[in-house]
Amino acid sequence: MQKFVNADDKIYKRNGAEKRSAAIVAADNYIERFRGSVDPAYRHTYHVMPPVGWMNDPNGFNYAFGKYHMFFQFNPYSAEWGPMHWGHYTTEDFVKWHLEPTAIAPDEDYDRDGCFSGTSIVKDNGFYLMYTAVAGGLQTQALARSADGVNFVKEGQVITGEDLPADCSRSDFRDPKVFLRNGIYYAITGSADVDGSGQLLLFGSPDLMRWKYVGRVWKDRRTEGIYECPDLTVIDGKDMLITSPQGLAADGWRHENLHGNLYMAGSIDLETGAFHSEYEDEIDGGFDFYAAQTLTAPDGRIIMTAWMQMWSRSMPTAKDGWAGAAILPRELSIVDGKLIQTPVREIEKYRQNGVYLSEKTIDGEVSFAGVSGVKVELDFSLNVDSAEKTGVKLYKGDVNETKIYYDAKQEKVVFDRSGMGIRISHDPKEKDASVRSVKIKLNGNVIRFRIFLDVSSCEVFINGGERTMTGNVYSGPADNGICFFAEGGISEIVRLEKYDIVV
Ligand code: FRU
Repeated sequence: MQKFVNADDKIYKRNGAEKRSAAIVAADNYIERFRGSVDPAYRHTYHVMPPVGWMNDPNGFNYAFGKYHMFFQFNPYSAEWGPMHWGHYTTEDFVKWHLEPTAIAPDEDYDRDGCFSGTSIVKDNGFYLMYTAVAGGLQTQALARSADGVNFVKEGQVITGEDLPADCSRSDFRDPKVFLRNGIYYAITGSADVDGSGQLLLFGSPDLMRWKYVGRVWKDRRTEGIYECPDLTVIDGKDMLITSPQGLAADGWRHENLHGNLYMAGSIDLETGAFHSEYEDEIDGGFDFYAAQTLTAPDGRIIMTAWMQMWSRSMPTAKDGWAGAAILPRELSIVDGKLIQTPVREIEKYRQNGVYLSEKTIDGEVSFAGVSGVKVELDFSLNVDSAEKTGVKLYKGDVNETKIYYDAKQEKVVFDRSGMGIRISHDPKEKDASVRSVKIKLNGNVIRFRIFLDVSSCEVFINGGERTMTGNVYSGPADNGICFFAEGGISEIVRLEKYDIVV
């Protein structure tokens, strides 16, 4: 029985010491050998990416031992999803990332088919990873512990099918979010009910080792799969539940991706597990945003990361030897009951070569000296005036361009990457992989855009983070132009700041 083993016994039996497993040594040797062979063409400069190979969800996003940690679902051996390891980055500012040794690998009988997603928590000077162990079609929750924040020793399975009510799937049971409240540890996991519903479950523990089922957090039938990657945090006194529903049906302009992202603001009842949602919305209305996780920084900020890619699509960088990245982390707050997202303020330290403009009329297409590039921050307010469509063209070359604009008739912001130069294939159930839009209210007649480009990514913050749109853009090496446009009328740049982001 692996369950509820004494941690010290387990370490003793396993290695006699906290030695790195053969699978971890092999992964790190492979990374050292092959990271130089990755084609740099589309590599980001201030976003987390795998050194080589594949990355999906960020995991265990936390502050511990004086640094921020971001682990990630990692297959070092191929740019496709495969045997899941946990890669590991640390940072002091969310902009410059340091690759650490691989944290865990699928090297035990109970996790031989993968160490799937999960979170981390600090307890009694130990840094614990709680992850989903996959073996033979069964998913269970397991722990690994580190005394130094770098080397992890597995402690075994701590929640298995035996702990589940009879009507819960044993094969879709994953992605624990672990948190401490009132002296009790809780874990929320994604799950499927045997009736086919997607659901979230709550477990409680006095010590991270012994767990008991508490109840259902959420259950409904609007997903095709399950609610993956739950996260729970508190923002301005509200419980904020974040999830990634697989195959979530579109709801008007919301949830146009096949695999959605969702937050619910409300309260969780820790006696029954039930979450009472007062308001829900999509988190990001772009193409590439999934598996979001939060941490609480020492200064109290709630900071979110997410996978900046999407399932069921082709990934143009796979041929270059890598795939997947994480967003520039965002600070979260709630204003009038709604989520507001802003890029971490630390990014501002990396601004260089500022260009400042104001009161520029846009009639047709206009570009400005010094306003170009693909590693930039662009912050501007547009008076929409008489324009039917007005915005900015990015990653612009002789032929290729990507457009972010306000469509006055539809009252929407549109992110159109159909002209970027590469077509991304997608699941036929998804409407397309080239145009996304979000509904926006103007302030007076003005809309504010703050946009971050990083070689092959574009993150758009609208009206101070009321809405965000994230997407990867794969253009040619010479496609570094930026220009502003107005169609069907004129508009005006009220003010603009542009910076190069240099790390
Ligand atoms: C979400 C997910 C998780 C799972 C992991 C496997 O992107 O499917 O549910 O734990 O990826 O890599």
